[in-house]
Amino acid sequence: MADNNRMKALVLSGGKGTRLRPLTHTGAKQLVPIANRPILSYVLDNIANVGIKEVGIIISPETGGEIKETMGDGSKWGVSIEYILQTEPKGLAHAVLIGRDFLGDSPFVMYLGDNLIGCGIEKFVETFNKTGADAVILLKPVDNPSSFGVAEADGAGKIIRLEEKPKDPRSNLALVGVYIFSEEIHKAISEIKPSARGELEITDAIQKLISIGKPVHSHILDTWWLDTGKKDDLLAANTIVLDEWFKRKINGEVDSLSKVTGRVTIDKGAVVRNSILRGPIVIGPGAIIEDSFIGPFTSIGANTRIKKSIIEHSVILSGSELSHIERLEDSLIGRNTKVVKCQDKHQALRLMIGDDSVVEV
Ligand code: DAU
Repeated sequence: MADNNRMKALVLSGGKGTRLRPLTHTGAKQLVPIANRPILSYVLDNIANVGIKEVGIIISPETGGEIKETMGDGSKWGVSIEYILQTEPKGLAHAVLIGRDFLGDSPFVMYLGDNLIGCGIEKFVETFNKTGADAVILLKPVDNPSSFGVAEADGAGKIIRLEEKPKDPRSNLALVGVYIFSEEIHKAISEIKPSARGELEITDAIQKLISIGKPVHSHILDTWWLDTGKKDDLLAANTIVLDEWFKRKINGEVDSLSKVTGRVTIDKGAVVRNSILRGPIVIGPGAIIEDSFIGPFTSIGANTRIKKSIIEHSVILSGSELSHIERLEDSLIGRNTKVVKCQDKHQALRLMIGDDSVVEV
């Protein structure tokens, strides 16, 4: 591991979680679990793996408490975490501005807490250290560049221009939410004004670096990237993470009537009775699975109860209960939710559904 002791990390976990409603009405979008782990845990894995020891996490008044409680003091990753309150989501560059005391003049990785990438960040940190660039940005070709920051590069890959969510994008290269900066970025931020959407944009600050001739390097990300926005993105992230990063690990209890095949992770305290489990699957602590079939690419959260049901390619968050469900697929079920098929003759639906939910029957 390279000695990146001087380098710090700033993780942005403030903002408002509007896109994953209703899942993020009460929770931070950065804590939405992928394969039973909050997205932020994968972010911290990547940061700790390059030898960074000091991490600042930007939090908002609404969800900061929950983030602190989940991530703790960083000892799980061998890093120290300082929480920095941003009272309003005034933009990514504003977050750097209020993180200034924590950052000092150290180089730093800025990591958006809702971004998940399919690899570590070693290569990007190495580029930063070797080239002496003032910024290293990560890019990925996408189909819908207007939803992102967009970079225009010349034939040799040098960045000419950056624009935040342009109506008429000049390329399909989106800015991925991982950046590495030298202390020069602070000066650039002090020279930009809020954008039309009222935010201090990091894209504008990087553009400033480019326009005053500071070296900005880019990397094309050659693995997957998920800016976890909607249900389908989340299911896709769950599928990829289970497929690529999970091994067979059975720490829970499985009775002799059950059959568990493939890469299935069953956490301690989970119980499986008379069921068929086909990996890749993860089953959280305290879950009880009875008389059921759980198919590939499914994450079952902690303390859930699944009874006489068939579930495949789905994410069931903690504390939920599913019973007598003939077949559930491609679904995302929030916390402490009950989905029960009535056993009466009339088969009437009896629902109590929260705001902004989607039910397909
Ligand atoms: O995901 C990549 C995109 O992220 C880039 O392509 C864009 O250039 C960049 O501006 C950003 O766009 P988003 O619109 O997706 O950013 P969002 O508002 O979702 O915020 C990203 C993360 O930063 C999220 O975890 C919330 C946090 N945040 C956001 C703002 C605006 C803060 O902590 N403070 C803030 O003020």
